Amino acid sequence: MAGYKIAILISGRGSNMAALIQACQADGFPAEVALVLSNRPDAPGLAIAKAAGIPTEVIEHGGFENREAFDAAMTDVLAAAGVRLICMAGFMRLLSEEFCQRWRDSLINIHPSLLPAFKGLHVHERMLDAGVRIAGCTVHYVRPAMDEGPILVQAAVPIAADDTPDSLAARILQQEHRIYPLAVRLIAEGRARPAGGMVAIDNYSLPRQWLINPPLE
Ligand code: GRF
Repeated sequence: MAGYKIAILISGRGSNMAALIQACQADGFPAEVALVLSNRPDAPGLAIAKAAGIPTEVIEHGGFENREAFDAAMTDVLAAAGVRLICMAGFMRLLSEEFCQRWRDSLINIHPSLLPAFKGLHVHERMLDAGVRIAGCTVHYVRPAMDEGPILVQAAVPIAADDTPDSLAARILQQEHRIYPLAVRLIAEGRARPAGGMVAIDNYSLPRQWLINPPLE
């Protein structure tokens, strides 16, 4: 269903953005990227988006009196672009309650942990310090509290004995690039929706390829 327009919010590198753009440009994908919006003019992801022919906008948060005013400017641009879904992809700004409410159930985020564990920043280092054996990543609907909201898709990533924060981040990122397009597909096809603090998915079959530890036969 081309015509299901999404926006991607970035602040930096934009590798998840690039994965979403690539997925959307593949034949038969049910969504298209109508806009990439950055709060930083120097975000490297902007050049990737432009090279892929995607419209980009920069709204610098520093130019606004407060968070609400910045968020309202984003809402104007996003609404004008006619987007139905907003994907945060390394967007390093907290969002106001008003923005979360305005885009409730149309706003998703990716986080490099198996939420609700390890919300916040410096996640890879904190997971290693805690000695957990399984890390992972999560795509979730956004609610006003940081890294909170109904979970759409997760992938698990085992931790190696010699992992550093960088090596672990690199392996988790590979999985991020797989689960973000899957989550967008489920929403754009109308198969996934928030329901009672969780996400209901129509015709859900255990997606074996997303599991590190498939069920025993
Ligand atoms: C990713 O690890 C994502 O999970 C987190 O910020 C990072 C963004 O990386 N929210 P990139 O800009 O998508 O490469």
